[in-house]
Amino acid sequence: MAMQGKLRLGVNIDHVATVRNARGSAYPDPVRAAKLAEASGADGITAHLREDRRHIADVDIERLMAALERPLNFEMAATAEMQAIALRHKPHAVCIVPEKREERTTEGGLDVAGDEGRLGEYIAPLREAGCRVSLFIGHERRQIEAAARIGAAVVELHTGAYCDLHYEGETAKRDAELEALREGAALAHSLGLEVHAGHGLTFETVKPVAAMPEVVELNIGHFLIAEAIFLGLGPAIKEMRRLMDEARAA
Ligand code: PXP
Repeated sequence: MAMQGKLRLGVNIDHVATVRNARGSAYPDPVRAAKLAEASGADGITAHLREDRRHIADVDIERLMAALERPLNFEMAATAEMQAIALRHKPHAVCIVPEKREERTTEGGLDVAGDEGRLGEYIAPLREAGCRVSLFIGHERRQIEAAARIGAAVVELHTGAYCDLHYEGETAKRDAELEALREGAALAHSLGLEVHAGHGLTFETVKPVAAMPEVVELNIGHFLIAEAIFLGLGPAIKEMRRLMDEARAA
């Protein structure tokens, strides 16, 4: 089984913008957070421009594109509006996520198998523009196989259910979910997909995911921004990095 070098950490700065928008102020600035994340060891920055602009705004994406030294992973729903924005900015990576207005966060993975024809056509111009296209999906075999068929470069496996089960004390179900994620990562890798993972990861839950040899990138946001209240953003990122490296080395 191939081990592809160091595990990358993508820091999602959406919730810096959530705090800013709560008061309609100019601060805290997500671009400042992104620069601090870069200086603290983030390998990339992730930002989700939601259809309702509840956190990241269009101008944040413009400023991130101009300010970042590390790659931007632009998260978006598969809409015509977002495709046009992505094609205008041509970020390093585009991660397609499902989006529902009423959800608090991205609650499930994308139904690639159920929307294969449309999604295949949707990602083609993004691939041609040089963006590394990632699909945010669950660990189900049919979703992973569909992602490979439509030519995605990457799948990001949704770790939200695993993290929820951990905090609910459902140890047996959590371990079964982890096993399913492990199998999904191995299947995706065997089909030539690059494997990422993320959602809900914390200091307590990151290690078993970081230890999966096929996973080459984790995208982590909400917990790091929350922990920044107590530790500061730089130290929170450094601690996450340390735990990831420890898990990887074991
Ligand atoms: N990966 C994807 C595709 C996401 O949509 C999100 C949440 O925006 C994350 C990772 C990060 O999740 P969290 O903020 O819970 O760490």
